[in-house]
Amino acid sequence: MLRLSVLPGPPRSRMPEYKFPPAFAWGTGSSAYQTEGGWQSGGRGLSIWDAWSHTPGRVAGGAVADAAADHFGRWRDDVRLLHRMGVPYYRLSLSWARIMPAGVGAVNEDGIRFYSELIDSLLRHGIRPVVTLYHWDLPLPLQLEHDGWLSPRTAAAFVAYASLCFERFGGRVLHWLTLHAPAQHAVNGYARGEHPPGRTVAPTREPYLAAHNMLLAHALAAARLRKMQAARPTDQRALLSLGVHADWREALSGSEADADAAQRSMAFTLGWMAAPLYTGAYPPAMRAALGDALPSFTAEQAALLRNSSDFFALQHYSTLMVSRPNATFPPLPETSFYAAEGVRWHSTRGARKNSLGWDIAPFGLYKLLKHIDETYQPRGGIVITESGFPSRGDDAAPHEATRDTARVCYLKRQSALFHRAMGEGVPVRGYFVWSLLDAAEWEHGFGTRFGLVRVE
Ligand code: NOJ
Repeated sequence: MLRLSVLPGPPRSRMPEYKFPPAFAWGTGSSAYQTEGGWQSGGRGLSIWDAWSHTPGRVAGGAVADAAADHFGRWRDDVRLLHRMGVPYYRLSLSWARIMPAGVGAVNEDGIRFYSELIDSLLRHGIRPVVTLYHWDLPLPLQLEHDGWLSPRTAAAFVAYASLCFERFGGRVLHWLTLHAPAQHAVNGYARGEHPPGRTVAPTREPYLAAHNMLLAHALAAARLRKMQAARPTDQRALLSLGVHADWREALSGSEADADAAQRSMAFTLGWMAAPLYTGAYPPAMRAALGDALPSFTAEQAALLRNSSDFFALQHYSTLMVSRPNATFPPLPETSFYAAEGVRWHSTRGARKNSLGWDIAPFGLYKLLKHIDETYQPRGGIVITESGFPSRGDDAAPHEATRDTARVCYLKRQSALFHRAMGEGVPVRGYFVWSLLDAAEWEHGFGTRFGLVRVE
């Protein structure tokens, strides 16, 4: 496996230069399943993604991430790459199954050692690790024996795993993300069926239950970290958050009906996770549409949630336009997960599509940042912990794959937009490009590339 075309010079452009505060956190990231490989090395257990990708027909081209970008074997090279790039922060995720092969109980010390050495090496190179505890790769036994995220037992198992990680890596890791994009994970696994466990039997109920248990897992893990920190008052206090995914939803027309539709759509995407974190309850629009299909938080859980995040961790990729359903765009069937949202989606006017078919509409990031700031006024500001641009995974355009012109343009445009939001008072504290390396893109296999560094 080769790392190619490291750091091509950006194309010359006449864009103005933007100044960012010296403390602005620039970074890039990766996730364990997508990048590590070494799926049967070092005592690692199996995750739901190993079982899924080894099941014929689940991943494009039958691609498995057994080797992925071989970060497990080549992590020293990868740290050197990060160092050469000069990024001050690196977001990585830990493989729960590498640390606790069964998801509960026995600890795999080889797994702890792997991450320990990686973290130490990053620190030695002046790179601060931002550690995600869970990026969608649930240990397989928790799916088979506990019913995965449909069961609160999985949330309890997560808290035990998180506590172990705080204990073993704490002091060195000062930025934690508990779970990554729970709503997206729940919809893909329990409504769309494109990710494991691939359930589509109760798409109007199970995604809400799965996401609810993940929110509780986050809140309980956050409380555990605070307790551990209170016992060591002289240590530097680590910051913690939950990764929230949100596209921007723009009203299709200037009509009041479409403005309402856009607002509802934001409640169902961003608000589903953000409202519990900042208000302790799901958005009223979701409660009104879903009733008891949406679980509720007790007063104690609500209080834990409201105090759980030290900054807003945002994952953003695209923008869609929405309208109220009408004769031309009738409502969706009631059995669809998306029916309750009560809107119709449209391509963004004038936007081209990227290699994953998403609208290329960077302006949405600016609007989203303003919206988050106005709606939640998150303490600790907003860190864009994940955003990037997919290019084609094949070698039809090798020049493009090494020059990365489209990716560079997209990232420049985005930087200009969050710089503008910052100038208007939105407290954006960091930006992490997804991803360091080309890697396994879930159900798309290796058919698309996000990497700043091309992997062959
Ligand atoms: C979602 C996920 O966080 C990440 O794993 C994935 O590769 C990117 N966004 C692109 O789809």
